[in-house]
Amino acid sequence: MNASTIVFGAGGQIGRELVSLAEIRGLDIRGLTHAEADITNAVSVNKAFEKFKPALAINCAAYTAVDRAEHETELANTINIDGAEIIATVCASMNVPLIHLSTDYVFDGNKKGAYTESDAPAPVNAYGRSKLAGEKRIQAALKDYVILRTSWVYGFYGNNFLKTILRLTQERDELRVVSDQHGCPTAAADIAEALLVVGEKLSAQEPVAGIYHFAGAGRASWYEFANEIVKRQSAFTNRSPKVTPISTAGYPTPAKRPMNSELSSALFIRTFGYTAKPWRERTAETVDALFAAGPSKAAS
Ligand SMILES: NC(=O)c1ccc[n+]([C@@H]2O[C@H](COP(=O)([O-])OP(=O)(O)OC[C@H]3O[C@@H](n4cnc5c(N)ncnc54)[C@H](OP(=O)(O)O)[C@@H]3O)[C@@H](O)[C@H]2O)c1
Repeated sequence: MNASTIVFGAGGQIGRELVSLAEIRGLDIRGLTHAEADITNAVSVNKAFEKFKPALAINCAAYTAVDRAEHETELANTINIDGAEIIATVCASMNVPLIHLSTDYVFDGNKKGAYTESDAPAPVNAYGRSKLAGEKRIQAALKDYVILRTSWVYGFYGNNFLKTILRLTQERDELRVVSDQHGCPTAAADIAEALLVVGEKLSAQEPVAGIYHFAGAGRASWYEFANEIVKRQSAFTNRSPKVTPISTAGYPTPAKRPMNSELSSALFIRTFGYTAKPWRERTAETVDALFAAGPSKAAS
């Protein structure tokens, strides 16, 4: 990415990871937090484009509270559908390509094996429906876009499953974790790398527009993921709570989840030449980085 890039949702877990990676690389990037640019407000989005005159826009802003979306559906839709359309419309009018993030939760989870881009979406919850409708609005408004569907995101910043498990290992002697839902844990750090790689191709006007799946290498259940986190943190805390597998039925949530949301990244790898690291390796790195930053960071 040579030319300037603006990032919406720069205060979120992926947004922060992306902006910090781009800054380390010395790239010309400007991250805008929710307070600095509201994607549901066309005036605010237009102002950002006029001020920074970007050659590329990346949208990391979204409504991501999967369970709350069941009763805050209107808000989720405003952000994930109307907000996505507003950015895409401004991008189209200013001839700026857009990279937008979407989710494995556009699928119903009934497939055996990994979902590819040609599989038909059929979301089972309000969040997934809002993200799918957001994808469609972007495709209708803009030709020059890449939509990256990713899954089970964890990392150094923000709230995520890995950090929740680290906190619970301090508080409990037993963690009961769902073992019959499968997917691909994906490090925000890998997504940040992927976004930069996609940005380079789009900026070079390579014909890569479309939807791609990008996820951490390997498949896991939430139980396996939790086990790995607990194992790794024990070296820092001397705590090894028991991790007990439970079924989805034993952990009722307001939003239904797909039982299988494994994504195949094969098309992404062929097109962009970048592969995410195996999730176990990235999980270990993330746990180590959180403890290196201090006990309060690891327990936050
Ligand atoms: N987390 C996952 O496991 C996961 C999985 C698959 C796909 N994704 C996708 O990846 C993307 C980024 O997710 P994430 O995990 O980084 O989410 P996140 O940590 O919740 O960050 C989302 C950011 O969007 C901001 N935001 C919300 N409404 C906004 C608005 N109207 N205008 C501008 N900014 C707004 C939020 O700010 P406030 O907090 O101040 O409102 C927050 O900083 C999303 O598209 C999500 O659907 C995430």
